Amino acid sequence: MYDFANMLHDRWDILTNVNKLIPLNEDKYKLYLGDCLEIVQKFDENTFDCIFADPPYLLSNNGFTCHSGKRISVNKGKWDISKGAEKDFEFHREWLKECKRVLKPTGTIWISGTYHSIYLCGSLLQLLGFKILNDICWYKPNAPPNISCRYFTSSHEMLIWAKKDKKVKHYFNYKLMKSGTWVEDKLKKPEMQMRSVWSITSPKKKEKELGKHPTQKPMDLLKRIILASTKEGDLVLDPFCGSSTTGIAAYLLNRRFVGIDKERKYIDLSIKRFKELQNSRDSKDLLQQASLL
Ligand SMILES: C[S@@+](CC[C@H](N)C(=O)[O-])C[C@H]1O[C@@H](n2cnc3c(N)ncnc32)[C@H](O)[C@@H]1O
Repeated sequence: MYDFANMLHDRWDILTNVNKLIPLNEDKYKLYLGDCLEIVQKFDENTFDCIFADPPYLLSNNGFTCHSGKRISVNKGKWDISKGAEKDFEFHREWLKECKRVLKPTGTIWISGTYHSIYLCGSLLQLLGFKILNDICWYKPNAPPNISCRYFTSSHEMLIWAKKDKKVKHYFNYKLMKSGTWVEDKLKKPEMQMRSVWSITSPKKKEKELGKHPTQKPMDLLKRIILASTKEGDLVLDPFCGSSTTGIAAYLLNRRFVGIDKERKYIDLSIKRFKELQNSRDSKDLLQQASLL
């Protein structure tokens, strides 16, 4: 069922020059190194069945947080520095506008974020004419404590799920969401409708074995999103792919994937993660490890 033989090393397209972009074809995955604001513009309109976007939170302004009991900087990298609310709003408008253009009329988009970005994106979705389907609260039962003791401990992120065209029917795998096996989620009751609060721990240690991304999403989260909103063979775009959690979940679930990131080190990490799939002799074991069975 899963065509690992197709994942030959020389099929990776890592393009530093957007002028060399090649048209989308039947490959199961493609990675682009560069700015998504420029790269998405090159894609044809109505191309993707689904988009998962985890844009920079724009929160790296020298604050502190707690990690493994230690006080550490919140700074994630230059790519995460806020330029002020108005410029941040414009940045989100630009990528969202292009994502809407390349989404199929039947397509849906997921955006994840904290309060630093998610409300800006939510307003823009409405201004750009998307129809919001749900907002999902991703509750993290193992969130680290707050070291300042002057705020509530942040233990969730928000996701917005929206469709491009109000009048067109979108895909939702209602049955699987209701009756599937969701052992990772202590809030999901068997055979009851999937609700909008999902309890999923941050990425497991094994998901970070090949390298770390500072805002890496858990496989369990992306597995659920891909299964809920796409069918086998669908084409999924992640314009801020980071370590390609979306791509790994999409690939394992037999969807096609296009990922973009402007940092070479994260594209390299993505390649390592995909290569591990290629090298895995027992894909069934891998799927089990990733809780995808
Ligand atoms: C929140 S992280 C995504 C993490 C990802 N979901 C994962 O599971 O690893 C955002 C990513 O967007 C990238 N990025 C920031 N601005 C970008 C831009 N304009 N174009 C492409 N990538 C960008 C950063 O390098 C970073 O890896």
